[in-house]
Amino acid sequence: MTTVLSIETSCDETAVAIVNNRKVCSSVIASQISIHTQYGGVVPEIASRQHLLTITEIIAQAIAQAGLEWSEIDGIAATVAPGLVGALAIGMSAAKTLAILHDKPFIGVHHLEGHIYASYLSAPDLEPPFLCLLVSGGHTSLIHVKDCGVYTELGATRDDAAGEAFDKVARLLNLGYPGGPEIDRLASQGNPKLYPLPEGNISLPGGGFHPYDSSFSGLKTAVLRLTQKLQAEGKELPVADIAASFQHSVARSLTKRTIACALDYDLKTIVIGGGVAANRGLRATLAAAASQKDIQVLFPPLEYCTDNAAMIGCAAAEHLNRGHISPLDLGVQSRLSIMEVMSLYAPTQLQYTSSAH
Ligand code: KG4
Ligand code: ZN
Repeated sequence: MTTVLSIETSCDETAVAIVNNRKVCSSVIASQISIHTQYGGVVPEIASRQHLLTITEIIAQAIAQAGLEWSEIDGIAATVAPGLVGALAIGMSAAKTLAILHDKPFIGVHHLEGHIYASYLSAPDLEPPFLCLLVSGGHTSLIHVKDCGVYTELGATRDDAAGEAFDKVARLLNLGYPGGPEIDRLASQGNPKLYPLPEGNISLPGGGFHPYDSSFSGLKTAVLRLTQKLQAEGKELPVADIAASFQHSVARSLTKRTIACALDYDLKTIVIGGGVAANRGLRATLAAAASQKDIQVLFPPLEYCTDNAAMIGCAAAEHLNRGHISPLDLGVQSRLSIMEVMSLYAPTQLQYTSSAH
């Protein structure tokens, strides 16, 4: 059994968790959303400063909640890519400091790998291979999970990520930030079939559509045109119906591609990850389509869909179990393909000795 203390600061949540393989011993999240809301989105410099102000306290809370001694912790992990570099650097520096101080291995984690591992937290028996639909604020990908650290990206968005589309449409409808949860709530009160909206197909040069790639910017523009048309007609905006129609279109589009991909690659399990995995419309549409094809769909627990440190710890524990340790001179990266995860576990360049014991 491997116990890891993990830190996640890639965007606007300062999160620390202690995870024992797939079991969460503690998980603390300090959200900065109320600070960034007034700017309509995340301001990177403010995010970094806020992480710096809160990280020590959040680490202390996570340790207190788990009720563990340092001697019971086997490794210290932090998200190192992709994300806001200033924000990532705060979490990574804190993790490396703890690793040196307590003489533990340091494990750098890819944020998207964390989102894949969120589903492991409620599925003790889940093992690759499977297909992961990763839908967050910054990414929309179909990932063939072959083994821990071994991923092939089979499909992606050509423009906006799914979560970004939710946030932009919410802004159009004056619903605040982040928009996904509010659209999800309103959609349950609206008619999803009232306004047929595009599914974001990508045309191929020889005709037909790309089977797995998607596009969400056209959908966002279609919602903009629809709201402008309704406003020009002097009508009060039917916000719930627009939200429901938009959500229906995203859910249909993602479901179509995900099921096609699972069937083509003969994968019997689909795992969802990322903030948009919390969306009720997507969950229902995908679950219904998958059951018709005898495909199992696993959703992460709701609290681990959006950014948290437990999913990072879960991925780190798996890497540590396999002897994957990061060098202490590893840096943060704003972008890093999920297919390059193993570059985080290059042989150690920088040796250190500790007098902690
Ligand atoms: O995974 P996440 O916390 O952060 C990133 O790594 O990007 O995802 C945040 C995104 C935001 O765009 C937010 O609007 C969206 O997830 N989101 C949702 C829901 N909850 C969060 N989108 C749709 N429905 C939801 N219930
Ligand atoms: Zn995320």
